[in-house]
Amino acid sequence: MKFFADTADVKDITELNDLGLLDGVTTNPSLIARSGRNFKDVIAEICSIVEGPVSAEVVSLDYEGMMREARGLRQIASNVTVKVPLTLDGLKACKALASDGCMVNVTLCFSAIQALLAAKAGATFISPFIGRLDDIHLDGTDLIAEIRQIYDNYAFDTEILAASVRTALHVKQVALIGADVATCPPAVIKSLVKHPLTDKGIEQFLADWKNTGQTL
Ligand code: G3P
Repeated sequence: MKFFADTADVKDITELNDLGLLDGVTTNPSLIARSGRNFKDVIAEICSIVEGPVSAEVVSLDYEGMMREARGLRQIASNVTVKVPLTLDGLKACKALASDGCMVNVTLCFSAIQALLAAKAGATFISPFIGRLDDIHLDGTDLIAEIRQIYDNYAFDTEILAASVRTALHVKQVALIGADVATCPPAVIKSLVKHPLTDKGIEQFLADWKNTGQTL
């Protein structure tokens, strides 16, 4: 499973990329607003750091507006993935962009049948938001499992990009189901390495090593 960082924070992206943990980046208008930076500038900088797909989201709601914005975003770098909302106009834009060789991430997916439509429109990625379903007392991981089954039934090659991932448990659950990608806040990616028994083991080994009086 690939790891994408769900952030527009260049410092975090650089750190994760240097650790070799990053396969791509996703942003959205809220994350761009949080960065306090110019949208196209920050996308250009992220694309210069990360080799993999970098999602940049359109903000128009109509097909023509989405296509116009997509043209501008695609000019930034070849790894820009245009992110469109799961609406009829978004699906139409997805189909046109995908036919023109552009990577497309269809976002704000909350049902398996929406994911089927995105695959039929040629989406490179579908982004089901699992945390936001958990927020309303539904199990977001059920949605990932349903989409996995539908995509496998029909051999769609659209990648399932589990989004709104909030915890290490989410990451494990979507990996077990077979999501292709998990996009996570940087803190969640860094937390994956943690286990109290690993820390305890290191502490014990170092204490025993010290008792040998040796140096390495
Ligand atoms: O990028 C979309 C998604 O990952 C947002 O997550 O935590 O705002 O629901 P969240």
